Amino acid sequence: MGLYLTKEQERILDGKKGEGLARCYRLLVRLGDAFGAKRLIPVKSVHLSGISYKSIGDPGLEFLEDLSREVRFRVRTTTNPCGMDLRKWRETGIKEEFASSQLRILRALRRMGARMTLSCTPYYLCQPSVGEHLAWAESSAVCYANSVLGARTNREGAPSALASAVTGMTPEFGLHLPENRLPQKVIEVEAEMKSISDYGALGYLAGEMLGEEIPYFRGLKGGSDELKVLGSALASSGAVSMFHVEGLTPESRRCKVQGLEKIQIDGRELGKVYERLSGGEPEAAFLGCPHFSTRELQAVSRRLEKVRLETFICLARRLPSRELLRKVERKGVKVLHDTCLVVSPLAEEYRCLAVDSAKAASYLRGRAVLRRREEIL
Ligand code: F3S
Repeated sequence: MGLYLTKEQERILDGKKGEGLARCYRLLVRLGDAFGAKRLIPVKSVHLSGISYKSIGDPGLEFLEDLSREVRFRVRTTTNPCGMDLRKWRETGIKEEFASSQLRILRALRRMGARMTLSCTPYYLCQPSVGEHLAWAESSAVCYANSVLGARTNREGAPSALASAVTGMTPEFGLHLPENRLPQKVIEVEAEMKSISDYGALGYLAGEMLGEEIPYFRGLKGGSDELKVLGSALASSGAVSMFHVEGLTPESRRCKVQGLEKIQIDGRELGKVYERLSGGEPEAAFLGCPHFSTRELQAVSRRLEKVRLETFICLARRLPSRELLRKVERKGVKVLHDTCLVVSPLAEEYRCLAVDSAKAASYLRGRAVLRRREEIL
């Protein structure tokens, strides 16, 4: 049996409310049919990825401008980082031509109703509740929303997230259903986790082993910042969209793990991840993948005396107070908002970057070296 549609949804599909809206519904219906969804369900919010001119180029820009003439977003819609800091793009060497195309993309998104959060950590700006249905793209945010917050979202692609923003709906399958949120393997962490970067190394290694499977971690004690880094790496080397951590994540208490395959990961194996994700002598450093929390920036302001390398830290513009920003900048840190060095052309200026995140190291592979945060700062 195919996906059930209400009379109203059928009318929309027939184009009675405009071709733009009909196209978005068609995309979601096709997606739902492919994954056996029985119905469309409303979502509370959408998070869009793929908005950097560096990633989508002119075809993406033209597509968004065309769409913005036809439709408006129906739910709260936030945006991932774009290709530049909107206030500092000139001083960071972004070319006029790039900036003008990037600004056209943002204008199109704003016209449709998107909020210019320009961050991969939208949950710091408005936190979803347990059980809330979302349609988020950006794999690290998806992992955090499902695992740490107990909200429910599949890992949307840029087109399906856009379609959900326009319709306010998503097909009900995958992680929207409780039976698909159970663990499939147990990971027993025997390594001593000395740095937040070790959580990224662990996630990177586990993601390679798991593919799309949901892990249940034992032996971890980190807080939400560490879990953010763990999830971002799980989702970059693998396609993991949810994890449980014994005693820490909201759904872990209900998990039954008896009989599941167990994998042990020790310190030696984590060390090998640092060796694999290394390449050259760094000319600068990039931290904030995913974007920093206020707490992480406060920790930097407390323990850093002066940067040893040119150092960029990325986080959402609305997060830090002016006072905190000034404190960190006085120590030589260049704080960037609205962007990150993976989606900005800025990284191309450097032959090698020191990064503290396994996700950043894998995306910038060949031009980055993974180091512990404490070694960089
Ligand atoms: Fe965010 Fe850029 Fe990393 S979008 S997760 S900082 S690659």
